Amino acid sequence: MTTPVIPAAVADAIRSRRSIRRFLPTPVPRETVEALLKLASRAPSGTNVQPWKVYALAGDARVALSEAILAAYASGQKAEREFDYYPREWADPWLARRRKVGLGLYQLLGIAKGDKERMAEQTGRNYKFFDAPVGLILTMNRQLGRGMFLDYGIFIGNFIAAARALGLDTCVQAAFADYPEVVRQHLGIAGDEIVVCGIALGEADPLAPENSLETEREPVAAFTEFRGF
Ligand SMILES: Cc1cc2nc3c(=O)[nH]c(=O)nc-3n(C[C@H](O)[C@H](O)[C@H](O)COP(=O)(O)O)c2cc1C
Repeated sequence: MTTPVIPAAVADAIRSRRSIRRFLPTPVPRETVEALLKLASRAPSGTNVQPWKVYALAGDARVALSEAILAAYASGQKAEREFDYYPREWADPWLARRRKVGLGLYQLLGIAKGDKERMAEQTGRNYKFFDAPVGLILTMNRQLGRGMFLDYGIFIGNFIAAARALGLDTCVQAAFADYPEVVRQHLGIAGDEIVVCGIALGEADPLAPENSLETEREPVAAFTEFRGF
């Protein structure tokens, strides 16, 4: 059997995506965001529960949320995450991969090892959605089970691939889950909604060194056991 060729429309959108950490100010119209969300919501979910809830922010609304979180970030206030996204204790091989991506990013930005000030500044850029014209905050009702994060991941995957197919770029950001209370208060979100993550959406700045970060993937044979083929 020859290896099947996955159609370019699908493969390119997936393969050409990378996390973008500096965006151009070019606006993304509401209609575009709506079209992406509509397509993303074709994601399957257990018994079609559709656990996603999205706050799409642009212009002043985006800036105001950024300012509220940055004020909390500058004051050193950090709430406990409402769910464990990252492990509490890191071990290899995951730690090595995490270090590699962090090191690669700081190298591109010319941030020396141990330069805590510039590292903190870069972390803070998360809360500006890396200057993206559109920032999404994704929430999920607390009543829903942990399994619903699976459904959410498919929704996010659809969204970021569809954005790429339109020539747009994204960065999925767990950083927003560090400030759930600030986000809820600022956006007037009820306490029964968990802040799952944010997504920055816009056009990548082609000249920004941090946008040239290329991340590796393990080969299929490293994470798959084929049996009975
Ligand atoms: C759920 C999720 C949360 C993430 N959170 C952040 C974040 O807070 N800040 C950030 O700069 N990148 C974040 N990333 C991006 C990852 O670092 C990135 O996907 C990974 O290093 C692989 O690189 P690539 O997206 O360029 O392929 C997140 C990615 C995912 C899927």
